[in-house]
Amino acid sequence: MRLLDKIALVTGAAGGIGRAVALCFAGEGAFVIASDSNESGCAETLELLERQGGKGISVSADVTNEDEIRALYRQIGECYGRLDIVVNIAGGDREPVVEVEEIDYLKMSANLDLNLKSCIISCREAARLMKPKGFGRIVNMSSLVYRGSPNQFSYAAAKGGIYAFTRSIAMSLGRYGITANALAPALVEVPAFVEALGAERWEMLRKECAQRYPLGRVATPDDVARCALFLASDDAAFITGQIIEISGGARL
Ligand SMILES: NC(=O)c1ccc[n+]([C@@H]2O[C@H](COP(=O)([O-])OP(=O)(O)OC[C@H]3O[C@@H](n4cnc5c(N)ncnc54)[C@H](O)[C@@H]3O)[C@@H](O)[C@H]2O)c1
Repeated sequence: MRLLDKIALVTGAAGGIGRAVALCFAGEGAFVIASDSNESGCAETLELLERQGGKGISVSADVTNEDEIRALYRQIGECYGRLDIVVNIAGGDREPVVEVEEIDYLKMSANLDLNLKSCIISCREAARLMKPKGFGRIVNMSSLVYRGSPNQFSYAAAKGGIYAFTRSIAMSLGRYGITANALAPALVEVPAFVEALGAERWEMLRKECAQRYPLGRVATPDDVARCALFLASDDAAFITGQIIEISGGARL
């Protein structure tokens, strides 16, 4: 068990990747705080986690609402007295596939709120709990589009911002025993994606990516969860400020 007795917060825990991370961490002995704005979804994650013998709680919180993030961390501090690991996963593209001239102020702002500002505030709260204990593992969800994308401008800016922010806090928090790293997956097959696109369009996208990626397939949520586990575990004790591309070799 690589996370035995660790207290781990996972945001976006109702989603495809977040649920896989929550289940994986619980299977490795962590007590998992599964959080999401989708209350029934994260309760379902908790149910799955307990069914496999894991331990945790589910807490509904909207990561774009500072008061709700504060309340979530206050609850963790009061109930457990510490937080060892946070994986900031909640996110998604609120302004997909537009031309530059079509960038919409509200959608762009929503993308920055959901994907970047939420992560910054969550890390601030995590640092407040982790610093006094001299230990912490922060794993932030970027995306391969952190390198730039020809039609996901504000989303790419947010995910690139996560990389810069993660490096910055790694520099500042390292001396307190806290590591901070980011994950950058290429396309991951999650139910929300398949539902949003419809089976036929999803299949076209999946095939097109699988042909392009050297490893010949798209990622699964478990591919991402295993990488998050590595970064949260003692195996990655001397790794900080890094971004790990979980991309099957895409964009080499
Ligand atoms: N699926 C991919 O191909 C892919 C690739 C790279 C990066 N990512 C990133 O991975 C993360 C997870 O995405 P996913 O693919 O599992 O999608 P998903 O839609 O299944 O999961 C996203 C989760 O975030 C939650 N969420 C959304 N807004 C929220 C809010 N305001 N407060 C709290 N929770 C909120 C949703 O309820 C959902 O459960 C996202 O940050 C996404 O940008 C996904």
